[in-house]
Amino acid sequence: METIDILNVSVIEPRFKHPTIFLKFDSLLPGESFIIHNDHDPKPLYYQLIAERGQIFTWDYLENGPEIWKVKIARKNSGEGEEETIGEIVTRDFRKAQVFKKLGIDFCCGGKKTLSEISKKKGISIEKLKADLDSVSSAEITSGGLDFDKVKLDFLSDYVINAHHGYVRENIPFILELANKVARVHGVNHPEVVKVAEVFSRIAKDLSLHMTKEEVILFPYIKELVNAERTGIQVDLKSFGSVTSPIHVMEMEHEQAGEDLVEIRELTSGYALPVDACNSYTILYKKLEEFENDLHKHVHLENNILFPKAIKLEKQSSIKAALKSNK
Ligand SMILES: [Fe+2]
Ligand SMILES: [Fe+2]
Repeated sequence: METIDILNVSVIEPRFKHPTIFLKFDSLLPGESFIIHNDHDPKPLYYQLIAERGQIFTWDYLENGPEIWKVKIARKNSGEGEEETIGEIVTRDFRKAQVFKKLGIDFCCGGKKTLSEISKKKGISIEKLKADLDSVSSAEITSGGLDFDKVKLDFLSDYVINAHHGYVRENIPFILELANKVARVHGVNHPEVVKVAEVFSRIAKDLSLHMTKEEVILFPYIKELVNAERTGIQVDLKSFGSVTSPIHVMEMEHEQAGEDLVEIRELTSGYALPVDACNSYTILYKKLEEFENDLHKHVHLENNILFPKAIKLEKQSSIKAALKSNK
């Protein structure tokens, strides 16, 4: 009988949970799988896996709460999209090109070669190659080859919550702590870091509230619209009226967050480190830049895809009729 490894995630220290699961997943050969046990729904991990590894795995709930969640995660067989070539990896995430470039690997003409072929040819271990590629992934959440223009809006809402709201919530406390520490230690010689801490603390407060509004008011309504389109079930009239009202507010808040991040970029002269920068200083600037990149992607998904499509969906005649009949 086949034995499958079980990883009890609930006993792993929080900051090591996801890295441990990723390590386990990366060690799987095509067709192999493992099972995770957890004390809450590990859905955020599903979206993180899609974001960072692409759709190269299957995800099956063996038990779905309410006390324990068991999920079987399997790496798909080569025929199902595994054994990615260098070209595919770069196409999926162009930033990975820099890893191949640095190692002197031709990702354009040699793009049809797989990672294991490259590893043999260049005498670089597959683990080293994967670690270098992963370090690019973990620096910024990527789209993992998803065509966001084609996904359903309920999926997109969940993706935004899990990948981007999750990222913001996870990183705010760490960046705040670092910013305050750097301001305390270096504020005398570099007064701009005191201002950076102030502006970031405003961003943190504003964004937390902003995301809650999206999660509690706007996104559930967008999901209702998707459901109405799918089932014909009428949409209840909301106190805010049309979807354009909360969207307008969200867009103004995005603009404010964007301006605040521009202010930080200007204060730090584009995250340029002074010669006396210590480790915390260096990490702070790195994290701020990563945070800015993530927010750009996050806001792009909302402003350019989710919001205009939600407005269009609401305007569709069947839903409009349902809205009217509720008035
Ligand atoms: Fe958002
Ligand atoms: Fe937003």
